[in-house]
Amino acid sequence: MKKVSKVQSALLPTPIHKMKRISEEIGKATIYIKRDDLTGIGIGGNKLRKLDYIIGDAIDKGYTTVLTSGGRQTNHGRLTAAAAAKFGLKCVVICNGPKPEKMSGNLVLSRILGSEIVFMDLKELEQVFDKNPSQEIIDNYHSFVESVQQKVIKKYEAQGDKVYVIPMGGHTPLGIMGYVDCVKEIMEQNDAAGRKIDYLVAGNGSGGTYGGLLLGAKLYNAPFKVIGINIAGKDERATEDIIEVTNGTSDLFELGVKINKEDFTLYENSLGTGYNQPDEETRKAMYRIASREGILTDPCYTGKVFNGLLKLVEDETIEKDKNIMVVHTGGTPGIWTEEHLDAMHDELWNDIDVYEYKK
Ligand SMILES: Cc1ncc(COP(=O)(O)O)c(C=O)c1O
Repeated sequence: MKKVSKVQSALLPTPIHKMKRISEEIGKATIYIKRDDLTGIGIGGNKLRKLDYIIGDAIDKGYTTVLTSGGRQTNHGRLTAAAAAKFGLKCVVICNGPKPEKMSGNLVLSRILGSEIVFMDLKELEQVFDKNPSQEIIDNYHSFVESVQQKVIKKYEAQGDKVYVIPMGGHTPLGIMGYVDCVKEIMEQNDAAGRKIDYLVAGNGSGGTYGGLLLGAKLYNAPFKVIGINIAGKDERATEDIIEVTNGTSDLFELGVKINKEDFTLYENSLGTGYNQPDEETRKAMYRIASREGILTDPCYTGKVFNGLLKLVEDETIEKDKNIMVVHTGGTPGIWTEEHLDAMHDELWNDIDVYEYKK
């Protein structure tokens, strides 16, 4: 395996424990959780494993600034800001969407962590987020994104900085190696604890986490199958993109194994009403897990992943009496955003007793 520079922003190994009450309540599987929401700095989350490789590369090549992009509440942006801060780099996060009136969730944290945030007001291009945008809309979107990125890069270069561009979600061959390593970590932890698992489950967004776990499982001959739960609707192209970028990891690190279509087991049973849109079913799953296990999930990513997993166990799509491990990838700052707080308000805030002091 080829060696590359790497920093250590993530606190590893992350803990694993049994979700005892939820497993007993369902009675059809033993569910363990891998706490990648506890990777340490910037409140933690899956992206730090990827950033350890990406920031290592940026520092190695003499860059002074990292620039990344994402949705309006990008967790990846927040963790890039945290890792950049720890290793003395400047950070810019470009967000898809207009600047919200008020700071919230990840945006506050990214600012506290010292990063610049830039918004792209896409009002005129909103259809890019429709189901079937025309090629012209897609092309206009990409050229606008590129022009914003170039403006930001020029601004930093004029100050003498050298800007390293990190694609959305840290979805690069380098970043994905973080989740190849995660498989080795899990296998070592399982061996040490005398624990056997049949399935490893993770959410699938930009695909690096799932792709890395698939590649790691092949590389280390893992005795478990890796299942992904889509966080947003995906098509064939998305799977092909994951295969291409993940196999880029294999080439880069000279791993000698590749993933292909047959390795994929993806479910799409918990999408709710759309990417980051508040929906009742996801919230019910969040409340259920929190009230049984004391574990917080989020309405955009992990609430959907846990909801999807519980459904697979309950409806026996995953056969009975298996040992399952789910990776908690973080994202809890998403709870503190206007749309999700509004959606939770009536469910959590109406039946509150107030006792007034009177003399
Ligand atoms: C909390 C959380 N979980 C899961 C994911 C999906 O990870 P990936 O992009 O590697 O598929 C993301 C991506 O942004 C995330 O923020």
